Amino acid sequence: MAKQQDNFKQVIAHAKEYGYIFSSSEIYDGLSAVYDYGQNGAELKKNIKEYWWKSMVQLHDNIVGLDAAILMHPTTWKASGHVDAFNDPLIDNKDSKKRYRADVLVEDYAEKINQKAQKEIAKARKRFGDKFDEEEFVNTNPRVIRYKKEEKEILERLAKSLTNEDLADVKALIEELGIACPESGSKNWTDVKQFNLMFGTKLGASADSATDLYLRPETAQGIFVNFANVQKTGRMKIPFGIAQIGKAFRNEIVARQFIFRQREFEQMEMQFFVRPGEELTWFEKWKETRQKWHESLGLGKENYRFHDHEKMAHYANAATDIEFNFPFGFKELEGIHSRTDFDLKAHEKHSGKKLQFFDPEMNKNYVPYVIETSIGLDRMFLAVFSSSLQEEELEGGTTRTVLKLPAILAPYKAAILPLVKKDGLPEIAQELLDDLKWDFNVTYDEKDAVGRRYRRQDAAGTPFCITIDHDTKEDKQVTVRNRDTMEQKRIPMAEVKAMLAKEVDFRTWMDK
Ligand code: GAP
Repeated sequence: MAKQQDNFKQVIAHAKEYGYIFSSSEIYDGLSAVYDYGQNGAELKKNIKEYWWKSMVQLHDNIVGLDAAILMHPTTWKASGHVDAFNDPLIDNKDSKKRYRADVLVEDYAEKINQKAQKEIAKARKRFGDKFDEEEFVNTNPRVIRYKKEEKEILERLAKSLTNEDLADVKALIEELGIACPESGSKNWTDVKQFNLMFGTKLGASADSATDLYLRPETAQGIFVNFANVQKTGRMKIPFGIAQIGKAFRNEIVARQFIFRQREFEQMEMQFFVRPGEELTWFEKWKETRQKWHESLGLGKENYRFHDHEKMAHYANAATDIEFNFPFGFKELEGIHSRTDFDLKAHEKHSGKKLQFFDPEMNKNYVPYVIETSIGLDRMFLAVFSSSLQEEELEGGTTRTVLKLPAILAPYKAAILPLVKKDGLPEIAQELLDDLKWDFNVTYDEKDAVGRRYRRQDAAGTPFCITIDHDTKEDKQVTVRNRDTMEQKRIPMAEVKAMLAKEVDFRTWMDK
């Protein structure tokens, strides 16, 4: 646990030191759970967006994009259920005055039990080596069976109380489990209350005529209210999807864990409209497609797992989370929901407009069913950044800090380094940079010894360093150093562009 916290602190410090993420309005001591992306962070974020957009929109003939406004008609949120049901159960500790999400306190407790089971499994794996049969062990070891049963019972009871809105039972569960305030250790809790997460704002100049609005808590509703506009003007036929990237706002009770849970964040969402009755087949297909997308980035298969929901949102008939192994453990990165026809039907009812599709093959109108894939851009950023940051032991007992970002996402694809600041080498380097910058984001660095510059670029995540030395003047060759392997090879300067293109071209990357 302490090691996890140290790693996480290192991630946060590194993100600041290398211009990835700053606290918002830091000169005024920051704003709680709001962050700004620095010069490198803005590039990495843009590249993640592009990677998602290209895969979801450009590579799917039947998916189109949308960019809806953040401010929407207030009835939108009545129809979607957010006014009445977008609540988190909160609980205060009377002694420490700290506020928590009651469900998260219970889930964290259950996760600790799961960790105990995982420890037993890891110990057995070590003991039995190659002969270890995990399935048999999990099904027969009394301790693991007990831990698993305990975890399941707690989560099932929590799901049941939340579904029935039985907040008294959520409090009873916290007390029965003896959960203490993580800050103070006190078990002196208030009752559990519901808290609406939407940020209110006003539209209009004068106080009397202003309309009460909300900042959108998800981008999805901008897609639903535009369903008919896009379907008709794009002549879309079912099945088809509408994708969107944009800001969302939630007044989170406990916003913590850096950019994992913020009050202002970005989502990359896609709503896929299908025939009623076919939604569960599409749900499985989208699970698979999104899993492949994640794996294509090479962050490690073992860092992902699916978590199927026990407690379903009121509108869903199937739901799963793709969880990622963040520095603080496995947590939700992306949600995939089969949302039935709930949203379109609700908007039909509240607007009085038809949101249906005439299916020529079936010769009838229907309200389509929807599969949603929804990933937090900031969470994806944290997944990529934290899993890429590594401390490596080198020969001779030294270490290096290296940010092994997937090259396709790295802010700078290459750094151009003249070996010395004289003898015409900076001029050659500048010429190469001026040529490459039309196709790639590249940077220039001439300060310090070249070894220190390599380390600086390693830590900033630049996949290639291209060094111009005295021989370059004669043989027109440069040294290319690979960030991950630290291997160096000489290639003709004229081939640098093709080499970079091969490494960061979207198609080559996807084919790999
Ligand atoms: N339209 C469905 C929806 O909004 P959600 O599970 O509430 O579902 C989807 O959110 C994704 O948005 C999450 O998987 C997460 O990646 C991201 N997300 C949600 N709340 C967030 C927050 N407070 N800060 C950062 N990302 C958040």
